[in-house]
Amino acid sequence: MPAISASAPGKIILFGEHAVVYSRPAIAVPVLQVKAKTTIVADPLAPPHSVLIDAPVIGLSSSLKDLDPDHPIRFVIQQVMQALDIVELPSVRIRLTSTIPLAAGLGSSSASSVSLARALSTFLGHPLSDESINRIAFESEKIHHGHPSGIDNTVTTYARPIFFIKNQPIEWLEVGLPMIFVISDTGQSSHTVSVVADVRRNWTAAPEKYEAWFDDIGQYAFQAKQAVKTGQLDEIGRLMTRNHELLQELDVSSPELDQLVETAICAGALGAKLSGGGRGGNSIALAQSIDQAQVIAESLKSAGAVSTLITTVPMSER
Ligand code: MEV
Repeated sequence: MPAISASAPGKIILFGEHAVVYSRPAIAVPVLQVKAKTTIVADPLAPPHSVLIDAPVIGLSSSLKDLDPDHPIRFVIQQVMQALDIVELPSVRIRLTSTIPLAAGLGSSSASSVSLARALSTFLGHPLSDESINRIAFESEKIHHGHPSGIDNTVTTYARPIFFIKNQPIEWLEVGLPMIFVISDTGQSSHTVSVVADVRRNWTAAPEKYEAWFDDIGQYAFQAKQAVKTGQLDEIGRLMTRNHELLQELDVSSPELDQLVETAICAGALGAKLSGGGRGGNSIALAQSIDQAQVIAESLKSAGAVSTLITTVPMSER
């Protein structure tokens, strides 16, 4: 039996992280240059039902039965088996690899779950629908970070720009003009689970203040949706920077993220903000052209970014 592989891209959040957990809208796009990939091969010489898992990026090499019952990999495999009504797996080797930086706000955990669920269901002869894959990845996100909104698993499952509101049907984002983003990494880990938990604690202590900030962030996401549709890049940039200011109020930024945002704007970016959980991870900046994006990327590296990546969100097909 040939090897079966499936992959899923990384993501950035253009607007609305954190507020999206509280049912405000948000905008996310896939980052296709980085991806998580799962490859599955039959292992006919192994004992019956031997499932070996190799995930070098997280230093994991283990048999399925030795994994913690709520290890996300084990959880996703069990969810796929349940969805397909399968009790035992044939003997297989499962290898997960990823070029998405870990704990960087770029959706590595979601992308890994999506690629695993897709590869395994295909290997078993019954590829699950995107809807089922998305649901499984969402359930797995709950293990990774407690109160996820569902935006990360949705954008990585469908690999399309989305306008997202929790528990509502997915809306594809219409993109009127290509958007070029410079993604820059602070090199600090972003632990979404603890940042989301801190925001929840602060929201519980001061609900009115936080609700007002979430409302404002939600308004920016609504305005940005229109600006993205009509290709008003200046307006998108302006709203991104305003969104960053509110994320500072929410106390999810960091001096390093603020420094990257400021540097990008000084280098001519139309706007910039942190992206994802925050307190580390990546910032994003909107550039007017590829040439300008390269200039911004150089400035960001000089300002301490450990790596940069330029990605383009193409115009929607009509
Ligand atoms: C993480 O990429 C985005 C957050 O809003 C969490 C979530 O929506 O689940 C911080």
